[in-house]
Amino acid sequence: MARASMCGRAFLAVAVLGISVRGDASGQDCLADSQAEVDIEIQEEAELQVMRQELLQYGVRSVKAGESYHAAGRADAQEEESDEEMLIAQNLHGEDHAVQHVVSRVLQLQQPTWDGEGSAVDCAKYPMFCTKKLNCSKEPLTKAEKEKMDTQIATSGGQANLRSWCRAYPMYSTSMQKCIVESDSRGYAREMFKAQQKLKLTGADAIYCFVSGHCNNTQVTDKTSMHEAEGICDKIYGQTWKHLGWNDYMAVLARALEVATKHHIPKEWNFTGWSSLVRLARHEAGISAMTACAMGNFQCDVTYCQLNYCHNDRFRAKFGNFSWAYPDV
Ligand SMILES: *[C@@H]1O[C@H](CO)[C@@H](O)[C@H](O)[C@H]1NC(C)=O
Ligand SMILES: *[C@@H]1O[C@H](CO)[C@@H](O)[C@H](O)[C@H]1NC(C)=O
Ligand SMILES: *[C@@H]1O[C@H](CO)[C@@H](O)[C@H](O)[C@H]1NC(C)=O
Ligand SMILES: *[C@@H]1O[C@H](CO)[C@@H](O)[C@H](O)[C@H]1NC(C)=O
Repeated sequence: MARASMCGRAFLAVAVLGISVRGDASGQDCLADSQAEVDIEIQEEAELQVMRQELLQYGVRSVKAGESYHAAGRADAQEEESDEEMLIAQNLHGEDHAVQHVVSRVLQLQQPTWDGEGSAVDCAKYPMFCTKKLNCSKEPLTKAEKEKMDTQIATSGGQANLRSWCRAYPMYSTSMQKCIVESDSRGYAREMFKAQQKLKLTGADAIYCFVSGHCNNTQVTDKTSMHEAEGICDKIYGQTWKHLGWNDYMAVLARALEVATKHHIPKEWNFTGWSSLVRLARHEAGISAMTACAMGNFQCDVTYCQLNYCHNDRFRAKFGNFSWAYPDV
């Protein structure tokens, strides 16, 4: 399996881009030296290809695209593209939009154009950021508030901190409007699904839903309030979600970005094969889910999963066992 894993590393990285490049893009590790090995490899790949591919798209999914907001400076991230990466990029077509979206999202979240100056919030265009629940314009995030959020998104009292949405302005406006302003989980589920369909990210979201355990969740319904969700988060994650920082979430996004734009899996993922991949996916999905606890949209995420993925035969057949199989990885 060590050998297959070596191949897998490069293969998986390419797979995240949704293209089935084989051979040279993967480097020497993947050049089989005998026909037998070729046959074994083809067989193994046939079995695992779909799941690997979709699982790695989970990385792309981490960005939780809500609407198509595009940052201006995306080109900067790509300066150091090698010839090999250029070749891969040229093959992107179908997934190009999704990858670009991820890149722009991450750049935007890392360096918001709006940097805490309340006057920069356009309340006419994005009124949801100006409601009393957030006050992004009237009471702009202070430097101290932001620094605290870096290491702890939740409030000091250990509750969901809605002010964290100011930090993402103007992204997620539609989903935030539905979930936070209107407390409408079903509306969030509907709008988010439409947006993700456009971005071709539903396969990746399906992974998130099963891997994160949202499809197993029987405590959240579409009527669950944010306050009730906090208690449910306590039961599932203990106190961990209260001590999760913006930096932790950014790190998930950065890893997604790395996979989406380069053709390799980051070393620190300790990739050694299939089970390590599931473990990784659970880890990343857990951080995303806990971030939702801290930002107040956990209950909406679960409803989004349950209405769109958990009971869908196609998604269940492909990814259902991520919820219960591989218990020890
Ligand atoms: C926003 O401002 C209103 C009125 O000034 C206040 O009652 C409310 O608590 C504020 N909300 C937040 C989240 O700071
Ligand atoms: C990878 O291995 C290193 C060293 O053993 C460890 O510190 C790190 O937490 C591991 N990373 C993951 C994602 O498991
Ligand atoms: C999810 O549900 C399955 C089947 O109902 C169950 O066997 C499994 O233990 C659950 N997984 C978790 C993580 O709760
Ligand atoms: C999970 O489902 C996939 C696809 O049906 C299958 O290939 C895989 O072997 C299953 N894993 C387990 C542990 O049941």
